[in-house]
Amino acid sequence: MAPVNIQSIQKRYGQVKVIHDISVDIADGEFVVLVGPSGCGKSTLLRMIAGLEEVSDGEIHIGRREVSHLPARDRDIAMVFQNYALYPHMTVAENMGFALKLKKANASEIAAKVQKAAAILGLENLLDRLPRQLSGGQRQRVAMGRALVRDPQVFLFDEPLSNLDAKLRVQMRGEIKSMHQRVGTTTIYVTHDQVEAMTMADKIVVLHGGLIEQVGAPLELYDRPANLFVAGFIGSPSMNFIDGRIEEGVFRSDKGLILPLPEGFPIAEYGGHPLVYGIRPEHIRAAAVGLPARVGIVEGTGSEIYAKLDCGGEEISCLFRERLNIRFGDKIEIGIDPASIHLFDKASGKRL
Ligand SMILES: Nc1ncnc2c1ncn2[C@@H]1O[C@H](COP(=O)(O)OP(=O)(O)O)[C@@H](O)[C@H]1O
Ligand SMILES: [Mg+2]
Repeated sequence: MAPVNIQSIQKRYGQVKVIHDISVDIADGEFVVLVGPSGCGKSTLLRMIAGLEEVSDGEIHIGRREVSHLPARDRDIAMVFQNYALYPHMTVAENMGFALKLKKANASEIAAKVQKAAAILGLENLLDRLPRQLSGGQRQRVAMGRALVRDPQVFLFDEPLSNLDAKLRVQMRGEIKSMHQRVGTTTIYVTHDQVEAMTMADKIVVLHGGLIEQVGAPLELYDRPANLFVAGFIGSPSMNFIDGRIEEGVFRSDKGLILPLPEGFPIAEYGGHPLVYGIRPEHIRAAAVGLPARVGIVEGTGSEIYAKLDCGGEEISCLFRERLNIRFGDKIEIGIDPASIHLFDKASGKRL
């Protein structure tokens, strides 16, 4: 195990800069998730940490060592990819032990380490099988086992669950987390899926266009997103954004909807200033007396109801956890808890 320190890292491909200037401190044993939309530079950053891609500028430290220019094999990391790339003609045990064999470890040491990793991952009964005799989830576990036997300072994962179906993804998410809890190795995990980030991370780094938008614990990002990008990215369904401004002590949307403000909001300071009002779908409730709204599409999953409402000309998504009997075209009233309102500066996108 070791801390990882990423200092002012940049990456250029020819004239094109894809990582602008990224610094992150990762504590020893921490589980950090790099999350962001496709193309934001997650894989590039991870591959630079792994030594599979040259850094254009900046420094990477693993423990006390600067590794920025060391070859991958000297960095003491193990990486798990989306494509597990198991050797088809080798058994599970041979796949898992192969890296140690290349390092000329002796057979009994290899067998012991493979056994130990297999026990952690529940693969003991599958060690003699070939990859084609395994399910997708089992193959994923073998790929993790291969990383685990190397007992590296740092695990790197690049979208390792993308090839699995939804149910298996949820299960494997839990297994990776529980493996981390057992072995405690510093882990850097890349995904585009904010739910994976929220459920797995000690610390989330939100990337966008080769820059960091925010770093924080999952609930910090959910409760206090630093800007419109993070507010819209973290949380599903996405936060509602309503453009408007403060007039005569209230928030008035561009379409004329009047909404409550959080207690203690410095109204005088932002009077007339273009703002964006943010409210998460799950923070809107049906109320006996509230803002009048007309129901648009309604989707129920049993555990919750997702609905789009027209509220004073603004389209607002809501997620109700109670069983409401609502249908397209119904008139209802909604309430917003002032404590769950987010306000952003429209020009800069920054949280106020
Ligand atoms: N070898 C390369 N040459 C040129 N551009 C690249 C290369 N690899 C990646 N890129 C570009 O760098 C950006 C970030 O890519 P990547 O790190 O793969 O994104 P992510 O993993 O977040 O989806 C993308 O715009 C991509 O097109
Ligand atoms: Mg990628």
